[in-house]
Amino acid sequence: MTIVKLADGRQFQVERNISLLDAATTSGVRLPYSCRTGRCSTCKAKVLSGSTTPLFEETGLTSEELEEGWILTCVRSAQSDIELEVDDLGGISFPVSKTIPCRISFLERLADDVVKVLLRLPPAASFEFIPGQYIDVIGPGGIRRSYSLANFNFSDKTLELHIREVDRGEMSQYWFDRAKVNDLLRLNGPLGTFLLRETKSIDIYFLATGTGIAPVKSMLESIAHLPVEKKPRSVTVLWGGRQPSDFYLDVSNIAGEHNYIPVLSRANDDWAGKTGYVQHVMLDLAPNWSNAVVYACGSDAMIHNAKKILMEAGLPAKRFYSDAFVCSASN
Ligand SMILES: Cc1cc2nc3c(=O)[nH]c(=O)nc-3n(C[C@H](O)[C@H](O)[C@H](O)COP(=O)(O)OP(=O)(O)OC[C@H]3O[C@@H](n4cnc5c(N)ncnc54)[C@H](O)[C@@H]3O)c2cc1C
Ligand code: FES
Repeated sequence: MTIVKLADGRQFQVERNISLLDAATTSGVRLPYSCRTGRCSTCKAKVLSGSTTPLFEETGLTSEELEEGWILTCVRSAQSDIELEVDDLGGISFPVSKTIPCRISFLERLADDVVKVLLRLPPAASFEFIPGQYIDVIGPGGIRRSYSLANFNFSDKTLELHIREVDRGEMSQYWFDRAKVNDLLRLNGPLGTFLLRETKSIDIYFLATGTGIAPVKSMLESIAHLPVEKKPRSVTVLWGGRQPSDFYLDVSNIAGEHNYIPVLSRANDDWAGKTGYVQHVMLDLAPNWSNAVVYACGSDAMIHNAKKILMEAGLPAKRFYSDAFVCSASN
C-alpha cells in the first residue's frame, strides 16, 4: 500500500495494480476523468515525486508529455509514495454512481446517422446527475458504452441520449438495427467530471462536433435555470458538422439566451453560414480571453487542436474543459 499526496493537501492510499483514479474514488477523493481507458487525457496529472507504473497504454499522452513526467491517473498505479499535481475538484459534490435497470421509452432518427434514445428508470430508482456528465449503457451481451446525458429536467425519470452510428460498431448495430421501445437495458452512472464551473459574469463558449452537442444541450438548459446572481455575461455555442443535415437539433430553440453559430467544414455554395472548424471560428470572434471559459465536446481531434490554438491565443489552460467522445470499449 502506498500513499498519494495531492498538491492541495488531500491524500489517499493505493494498492498494487489499482489505478490512481480508482483508488482516489474509493477514498472519496474526486479527480478529473472521462474515458477511463487512457485515451482522452482528461485525467492527466504531473508526478512531482515518487515512481508510478502503467497498467495500460497511455495513448492520450505524447512522448514529450511522458518524458516531462505527465501520467494518466486512470491507467497508472503507484510503485512508491508519490506527490501529484492535478486539477482540484475538491469543492464539487458529485452524485454517487450506481448500476440500475432502465427501459427504452422512445427512439427517433434525428439524422441518417444519429438516433435519439429516451431511457426510462424505475419510478423508485434514486438517480441524480450534473449536466455534462455521462452514463455507461450496458446492452445486449454485456456490451458497455458511454453516452452523455442531453437533458436537464429529469422529473419524469427519463434520460435523453444522442447516439451517432459508428461504422461496424458493436453497440451502433444494436441501436440502429435492433433496438426497440421497451427493451430492457442497464446503466451505470452518472460518470465524468465535465460540468459547468464558475458561471457568474463569465463569457461561456461551447465548442461541439457531432453528438458532442448532447451535453451542451443539458448545460444550456441548466444555465437557463441559474439564479440571476450566477448568470454568465454571455453564452456562445459553436457547433461543427460536415453537411447541413449534421445539425440535427435546433440549438436556437434550447432554453436560455445564447448566440448559436453552426459551422460547416465541407460547405457548398448554398451555405451562407460560417465555414471551417469551430475552434478557428471562435478565434475570429476575438473573445476577451481573461473572461472566457471554453467547454469543448465531441471529437478528440477538435478538442486537441482547440486547446492548443486557444491557449496560444491567450486562453488560460485552467479555463478549457473538455469531454472527448473517444472509443469507449474497454482496454
Ligand atoms: C465519455 C464519453 C462520452 C460519450 N458520449 C457519446 C454520446 O453522447 N454520443 C455518441 O454518439 N457517442 C458517445 N461516445 C462514444 C461511444 O461511447 C462509443 O464509443 C461509440 O458510439 C462507438 O461504440 P460502438 O460500440 O458502436 O463501436 P465499437 O464497436 O466500440 O467500435 C467500432 C470501431 O469504431 C472505432 N470507434 C469507436 N468509437 C469511436 C469514436 N467515438 N470515434 C471514432 N471511432 C470510433 C473503434 O476503434 C472500432 O474500430 C462517448 C464516449 C465517451 C468516452
Ligand atoms: S485518459 Fe484517463 S480518463 Fe480519459
